[in-house]
Amino acid sequence: MEQYAIKGGNPLVGEVEIGGAKNAALPIIAASIMTDESVQVDNIPDVRDTNVLLDAMQEIGVMIKRNNRHSVSINASQVHDYVVDGDNIRKIRASYYFIGALLAKYKNAEVALPGGCDIGCRAIDQHIKGFRALGAEVVIEYGLIKAHAERLRGSHIYMDVVSVGATINIMMVAAMAEGTTIIENAAKEPHVVDLANFLNSMGANIKGAGTDVIRIKGVHSLHGTEYAIIPDQIEAGTFMFAAAITKGDITVKNVIPKHLESITAKLLEIGCEIEESDDAVRVVAAKPLRHTQVKTLPYPGFPTDMQPQITVALALSTGTSIVTESIFENRFKYVDELIRMGANIKVEGNTAIVNGVAKYTGASISAPDLRAGAALVLAALAAEGYSCVEDIHYIQRGYEDFHLKLQSLGAQIEKVDSGRDMQKFKLKIG
Ligand code: EPZ
Repeated sequence: MEQYAIKGGNPLVGEVEIGGAKNAALPIIAASIMTDESVQVDNIPDVRDTNVLLDAMQEIGVMIKRNNRHSVSINASQVHDYVVDGDNIRKIRASYYFIGALLAKYKNAEVALPGGCDIGCRAIDQHIKGFRALGAEVVIEYGLIKAHAERLRGSHIYMDVVSVGATINIMMVAAMAEGTTIIENAAKEPHVVDLANFLNSMGANIKGAGTDVIRIKGVHSLHGTEYAIIPDQIEAGTFMFAAAITKGDITVKNVIPKHLESITAKLLEIGCEIEESDDAVRVVAAKPLRHTQVKTLPYPGFPTDMQPQITVALALSTGTSIVTESIFENRFKYVDELIRMGANIKVEGNTAIVNGVAKYTGASISAPDLRAGAALVLAALAAEGYSCVEDIHYIQRGYEDFHLKLQSLGAQIEKVDSGRDMQKFKLKIG
């Protein structure tokens, strides 16, 4: 099994190029099947989740041409099946976007129940409520969600919780339903806006994405397009916190600073210096980190996908910090691993009480999920001595070339296959 071998202690310094947003790429790739014409999608991150989605599309007859590592042309004129099932697709969360896309275009979809990181119960009731409101019959049987409609009709839908996935799925179906749909209490994340822009570039009529009321006038058909995905807010935020955690100086390039405001605000609060330009943000951590309080919230609040990274930083700050996780109930699993590295953190329900320590020390740890995995790597890069991070397949779901980008910032990190390789790494680094 692949692992990261890490020797910590170097401040990370330099520039890093941020790739396309995974959580925008996933719905956009799925929504490409909503037209029979060809769609070119650029700036796709080359990560496991996007590749699993593209492979699943090929299995139902979608033609995929890889133009280069980050660009694909997708043509769905020969789709021969509305059933998306398989070992890999069952493991990812975004499989649910096939329900919206297939239901919109073919009024029929049968898709494996979503998997994804084990960070909480991750209900799909709001997706189902939306599909039903738009005229679909939905049942769950034999591990599949089956949605079928004679006609899809616009509706007024009030979301009981702010859900990224449900907002996106309802938007997809409503884009091709008869009449107007209004989604109230919609998610406002940048990737919701990106999907709306993508669908509009295919001829959809969606207004208000990025606010909590989205209005969609259904159209009969969509056409081909060429579209580039927005930069990844969370990849950028992870590298920004890498600067804070390792006391470094990192410029994240190719970003939209507006999307990073809640992250930037917390970094300033804990004592980092920030320089912003049109498409880059520099984070310098020259002073000791200060404690703070943070609560994860839907956008524009502080993202749950950045909660482990900020906790890793706060655990190295002076004083006591409080971190409250309000989106997913099971997102503190990495804390036990961090404690093995010397952190002083107590979790009570959805709150972590973080007492700052002067340093981490290296340990063997394993990644419990994608973002926590990345955060633990950052902890290991700050730690004194060697660490081994296992289960890095989680990290590969969502970070392209993570260790290579870290290496380019001066990190001593390598991908290894065994305990023996770990020994070789130690001998090499010395
Ligand atoms: C998306 O998950 C992201 N995944 C997650 O990123 C991210 O953490 C999350 O949004 C929040 O920003 C993808 O985009 C593929 P939600 P999603 O529906 O859509 C509850 C990462 O690391 N809920 O916004 O599944 C739910 O339980 C991942 O990249 C319902 O109750 O999240 C949660 O408490 C992990 N009923 C809250 O809403 C529903 O029908 C927000 O979930 C749907 C959600």
